[in-house]
Amino acid sequence: MNDLRLITGGFFYLYKKMEHTICYLSKQAEALKDSELENLFKYILATNPLLNITGALLHNNAFFLQVLEGKKETIKELFAKIRKDKRHKNILMILDQKIENRIFQNYEANFSIMKSKADIERLNTYLSHYDFENKYPKNIKTLIEPFLL
Ligand SMILES: Cc1cc2nc3c(=O)[nH]c(=O)nc-3n(C[C@H](O)[C@H](O)[C@H](O)COP(=O)(O)O)c2cc1C
Repeated sequence: MNDLRLITGGFFYLYKKMEHTICYLSKQAEALKDSELENLFKYILATNPLLNITGALLHNNAFFLQVLEGKKETIKELFAKIRKDKRHKNILMILDQKIENRIFQNYEANFSIMKSKADIERLNTYLSHYDFENKYPKNIKTLIEPFLL
C-alpha cells in the first residue's frame, strides 16, 4: 500500500513538474503600425508574468519568432488566441512539445522582447553555456541564428 502511494505520488510529482513549449515563426501583418506593435509588446510584457509564462519574442524585419514556456494548458490556451490574431500571418509551428526545464527561467528577464542584434547576441551567448546533449536549447540556438545575420 505504501509502495503504491509512493509510486502514484512520484508520477503526480513528475506530471506537475512537466512543462511545455511552443515555438513558432510568423510574419507581421502589413497594416500593423509601429504604435500598435509597441502596444502589443507592452501588453505581452505585462501579461506573461501573470500567467507564469517564460520565453522570448524576437522581432526583426517584420518577422516574429516566439518561444513560450509554461504549463501545458496555459500555453495551449494562449497559443489558440495567438494563432487567430490578425496582427500576424503565415504562422509556422516549429516546436510543440514537453520540456524538462525552462530555458528562460534564469535568463535576464523571464519574458523578453528582443528587437536588436545585441539582444539576440546576449541570448546566443547564454545558450552556448547549455549542455548540448539537451535538444531543446540546441534547437532554440539554431533557430535564433538567422536573426543574428
Ligand atoms: C506575434 C504575437 C505574439 C503574441 N504573444 C502574446 C503573448 O506572449 N502573451 C499574450 O498574452 N498575448 C500575446 N499575443 C496577443 C494575443 O494574440 C491576444 O491578443 C491576447 O492574448 C489577448 O487575448 P484576449 O483579449 O482574448 O484575452 C500575441 C500576439 C501576436 C500577434
